[in-house]
Amino acid sequence: MERFFSQRARNIRRSVLRELLKFTQRPEIISFAGGTPDPETFPWEELAEIAAREIRENYAQSLQYSTTEGDTGLREELLKISRADGIEAELDEIVITTASQQGLDLIAKTFLDPRDVVYVELPTYIGAIQAFRAMEAKLVGIPLEDDGMDLDALRKKIAADRARGERAKFIYVIPDFQNPAGVRWSEEKRRELLRIAAEEDLLVVEDAPYRPLRFAGKAMPSLKAMDEHDRVVFLFTLSKILAPGLRIAALIGSEEIVDKIVAMKQAADLCTPALTQALAREFLRRHDLEEHMEKIRTCYREKRNRMIEALERYMPEGVRWTRPEGGLFLWMTLPEGVDTERMFPKALERKVAYVIGAPFFVDGTGQNTMRLSFAIATPEEIEEGIRRLAEVVKEELAALSATAQV
Ligand SMILES: Cc1ncc(COP(=O)(O)O)c(C=O)c1O
Repeated sequence: MERFFSQRARNIRRSVLRELLKFTQRPEIISFAGGTPDPETFPWEELAEIAAREIRENYAQSLQYSTTEGDTGLREELLKISRADGIEAELDEIVITTASQQGLDLIAKTFLDPRDVVYVELPTYIGAIQAFRAMEAKLVGIPLEDDGMDLDALRKKIAADRARGERAKFIYVIPDFQNPAGVRWSEEKRRELLRIAAEEDLLVVEDAPYRPLRFAGKAMPSLKAMDEHDRVVFLFTLSKILAPGLRIAALIGSEEIVDKIVAMKQAADLCTPALTQALAREFLRRHDLEEHMEKIRTCYREKRNRMIEALERYMPEGVRWTRPEGGLFLWMTLPEGVDTERMFPKALERKVAYVIGAPFFVDGTGQNTMRLSFAIATPEEIEEGIRRLAEVVKEELAALSATAQV
């Protein structure tokens, strides 16, 4: 069979994480592994009511094909939200995508030839790694610091790549409450990144699924809002603020870029489902999104606080974690020598699960890291799960120091 596969398909692998996640679904396991939002935050009653009406009274549109650009009413609603966030864009600068993952796939297909360089954070979102690698891009990782990417390191890498004659296309970043690390970029670094992009003639892909989920700290402008030269392609999804099952997101960029993305999308799926676009449009028209998001933020703030308190109480010396001001994730770094993949079965034995960190690093590092989601578990489960995890970590550290002494 192998001989039938394209070169691309031969190189592509299923995500290790998706495989590991299968083990974490048993009900007795407290899982910090999933990347999904809390279903209790979905506005299911409102959506059920809209769905019934849209199908009964508007089936000629809602069960029909949509245009590839997407429902005009929905695009207008999303533009209003973006404007309130400082992004000035017009209708021909936005396209609805079958959630952001498709946005990433279309960006990869639109911009990347084999061996083109993409700069990414270390660590970064696995779905983006998969989408860019599928186009045979070369991913160059730049360390992520507490306030964003290490931009000196970025400058050096760009210079070195240029000297070697490499062709770089864009920098992919998640500046708000990053997946996986929960980090938020400072305003200075945001401005500096745009300066670098302009000097080096690179595009910036700003992926912002967690941006609306800020439950602490002050508001920070998006890169797109500060983009004066149409260098930023902005991805904005409803997955974390309404429901990922809708598969609705928007890509905002220059008219020229959006036009190419639309052409690429025609080949991918003709259009995003008209029905879920109608659900999203009507929800945004009839309900107060800000009020809905405030409920979500309250839910995640409480869970994040509970997780940090538990970590402070139970984790041994030498373990570090981020203190996210939004989003769903917290990032934990264990002392050098710990391998979180090797430790994973021991955690499962104790009925607690996390996501191993290494797959988020494009340079093969990160063995001593893990991602913890505070979104799904209840506050009580968070407390108990962190207690169990701390036991596993303590045992692992004790075993490591015992072997070091032999
Ligand atoms: C950084 C990032 N980008 C994109 C996505 C994809 O989201 P969706 O396709 O549901 O919009 C996710 C999902 O977890 C994510 O964390």
